[in-house]
Amino acid sequence: MKSKDIVYVSGTFVPRAEARVSVEDRGFVFGDGVYEVLRAINGHFFGARFHNDRLRRSLDGIRIALHGDDSPERFVEIGRQLLKENRLLEGEATLYMQVTRGATTRAHTFPAPEVRPTVYLSVAAFTPSRDLAASGASAITHPDLRWGRCDLKTLNLLPNVLAAQAAKEKGAFEAMLIRDGVVTEGAKTNFFGVVHGALRTHPCDNHILPGITRSVLRDLAREVDIDLEETPIRVDEIPKLTELFLTGTTTDVMPVVSLDDKLVGKGKPGELTRKLQQVLAESLASGGD
Ligand code: PDD
Repeated sequence: MKSKDIVYVSGTFVPRAEARVSVEDRGFVFGDGVYEVLRAINGHFFGARFHNDRLRRSLDGIRIALHGDDSPERFVEIGRQLLKENRLLEGEATLYMQVTRGATTRAHTFPAPEVRPTVYLSVAAFTPSRDLAASGASAITHPDLRWGRCDLKTLNLLPNVLAAQAAKEKGAFEAMLIRDGVVTEGAKTNFFGVVHGALRTHPCDNHILPGITRSVLRDLAREVDIDLEETPIRVDEIPKLTELFLTGTTTDVMPVVSLDDKLVGKGKPGELTRKLQQVLAESLASGGD
């Protein structure tokens, strides 16, 4: 039977086609809001508490206070209800959670008096890119044109959108962003690379999103005795990369075997990448936490 396609908007469950937000919503006018993307496997949200903590941090970071009983935990509960309504309790799905500063007459400053933040929650069926994860993907390098608070998961994704589109137009899966001579992360993923046998990734600071998959993988790597150095990969080290992969909620561990049309290492997913791909897959299958 066809799914009903129900979403949640600020207190109401409605068919997606009938869901409405105001044209004066600050998310629409300014991109003034934050979001999260969670992965559900057989009705279980992987790493929900980490996503909740990050959503709280993003909201605090842009000074949005949730209304009444609203909380990230409540949104995840509603997400579960959405999975049920949309018959997605079995198999894989994603939950998109978005909060904006609400709808009011346009002015750059915050609404005064305060208005209720707009909450939008929606689920969708999800199929991991298993073939690409097996063969490996390609990527391009691209300037990182984003602002100084990339650690907040805000709706302002224009530089990410342009970088992702540049990658797509070159037939690549992801854009690897470069700022001040180092690899920061991808348009929608975090990047890891192996240089001289050492696994490295950019440290968590204001220039990258502290990815949940990145952090889960860091712990899993430790469990299987793989050292991870949180030291950025410099542009001049790119030709020395023997392995490269990216991580994300909807990407898992994705090997990158070609960068800017040049092979990475032997042009095949490397040993460390394969191992980490396997441990993450096991963690996802077991529900994670
Ligand atoms: N993207 N870096 C950026 C810029 C991202 O947008 C994302 C996630 C990640 C990976 O974070 P996580 O492991 O928590 O998913 C890193 C989401 C999935 C998106 O925008 O759709």
